[in-house]
Amino acid sequence: MVQPILELRGVNKSFGVVHVLHDVDFQVYPGEVTALVGDNGAGKSTLVKSIAGIHPIDSGSYLFEGRQVTVHGPNDVAALGIEVVYQDLALCDNLDIVQNMFLGREIIKRGVLDEARMETMARQALTSLSVRTVKSVRQTVSSLSGGQRQTVAIAKSVLWNSKVVLLDEPTAALGVAQTRQVIDLVRRLADQGLGVVLISHNLADVFEVADRICALYLGRVAAEVKTSEVTHSQVVELITAGRSGSLGLAPAEAAQSM
Ligand SMILES: Nc1ncnc2c1ncn2[C@@H]1O[C@H](COP(=O)(O)OP(=O)(O)O)[C@@H](O)[C@H]1O
Ligand SMILES: [Mg+2]
Repeated sequence: MVQPILELRGVNKSFGVVHVLHDVDFQVYPGEVTALVGDNGAGKSTLVKSIAGIHPIDSGSYLFEGRQVTVHGPNDVAALGIEVVYQDLALCDNLDIVQNMFLGREIIKRGVLDEARMETMARQALTSLSVRTVKSVRQTVSSLSGGQRQTVAIAKSVLWNSKVVLLDEPTAALGVAQTRQVIDLVRRLADQGLGVVLISHNLADVFEVADRICALYLGRVAAEVKTSEVTHSQVVELITAGRSGSLGLAPAEAAQSM
């Protein structure tokens, strides 16, 4: 058995009186893509933001490389080697690709920015992911397509030697060809040994690229399954009803979840 690189055990999270995450167990394995699926409001983004250190968890454990850790904020999470790519990306339109990739983490040599080194590293990160559609790393982000922006945001995680990358709906705003590129990129990240978490509404993408699927239903993990062991319609049922045949929450549990 391979040890999860990242693991949550029994995590609960409430916002005021709204109990969003219920006893969530979640594992991410190195070299694998874990898809996190669930209906709108199931708690996917809350789970990602809890992992990212944006929302403190109320109870439960957070383990990284098998050790329990306490995260106080996004900086602690980045220091562990966990990178999060949010849906709204947070790239700066007026800056070029190199500047975006090194924003806040610029390389300085003898008091000045080491532009040549940063440019080389940015290019290497893109090349290592077989990104060929970006013509120059000195293009401003405003000149890039949606898919290229997503690519730049994802390549940052390679640049910073991350061990885990979480992608919240990376293909939501993309067309067919761009989605294809991003899904290929997700696979290559995992092939480089990273633990990848993909949140997606598109089950075709999930079935194509994910090794495992974790289905959230009203803030509970309905099931955590290997992709090869479930059908499309079982996953749809897990998402919409919290259960599917012998899989998922017990009927009473599915009904009481709120
Ligand atoms: N900051 C917040 N304050 C209060 N409620 C929140 C907050 N963030 C999320 N929620 C609630 O948590 C639930 C899960 O939301 P979310 O994690 O965004 O779901 P998903 O990403 O699966 O669509 C929703 O009911 C949402 O209204
Ligand atoms: Mg969300």
